[in-house]
Amino acid sequence: MTPDFWIERWQKGEIGFHQAAGNDLLQKHWSSLGAAPGSTVFVPLCGKSLDMVWLAGQGHRVIGVELSPLAVDDFFRELGVEADTRTAGALVVRTAGPITIWCGDIFDLPAEVVREVGAVYDRAALVAFPPSLQARYAQRLADILPAGVPTLLVSLAYPQEEMSGPPFSTPLARVAELFGKTHDISLYESRDGLAQSPNLRERGLSALEEAAYVLRPKAA
Ligand SMILES: C[S@@+](CC[C@H](N)C(=O)[O-])C[C@H]1O[C@@H](n2cnc3c(N)ncnc32)[C@H](O)[C@@H]1O
Repeated sequence: MTPDFWIERWQKGEIGFHQAAGNDLLQKHWSSLGAAPGSTVFVPLCGKSLDMVWLAGQGHRVIGVELSPLAVDDFFRELGVEADTRTAGALVVRTAGPITIWCGDIFDLPAEVVREVGAVYDRAALVAFPPSLQARYAQRLADILPAGVPTLLVSLAYPQEEMSGPPFSTPLARVAELFGKTHDISLYESRDGLAQSPNLRERGLSALEEAAYVLRPKAA
């Protein structure tokens, strides 16, 4: 999966993953994570997710990272806000109020950007990576995040043979493979997501599990 794949998807408007009303599993389970009031939340592969606006509404500062400049432009334009823009190496940094989006590849994001982060929200980020890149993504998070930072992970699982990703099926067993050595993993909710995903039904899926997990780093 090359960066061009995602850049083109945004150019063609193929963004069936975008949720116009934000994600209800976030809104239901965020308080269980225990993120400190006013703390900074990191949203990897943020797209133009309105979840960032919801998190800001909870009093958090938000740092997103997103490959597509179009997604980032859309995000601020659709909110009707003017974002300050600066460049930092290979990335462009855009900020409006409590939300900053680093536009570029997460693998190029300097570690100091997330030094103050107190919690992570991953919806459709881990599952956007093919299995061969998921381990690299998990390692990247481990490398750059401060110790002890919990994650709310919203993941998907389905019979992988029915559809090629993204999204890639990432069931509990895979989450455990990727994060089980370093994190305690709690399943907060698992539900049938097929009825709410007409685009994935059209791609041939007969079953879809949507799950919310909390990942808490194990004490060193
Ligand atoms: C499935 S979408 C999910 C977006 C968002 N989390 C949401 O819930 O709507 C995955 C996003 O990750 C972005 N992306 C893919 N690879 C990336 C990378 N290496 N670094 C930063 N962003 C990336 C894509 O452009 C796309 O917007």
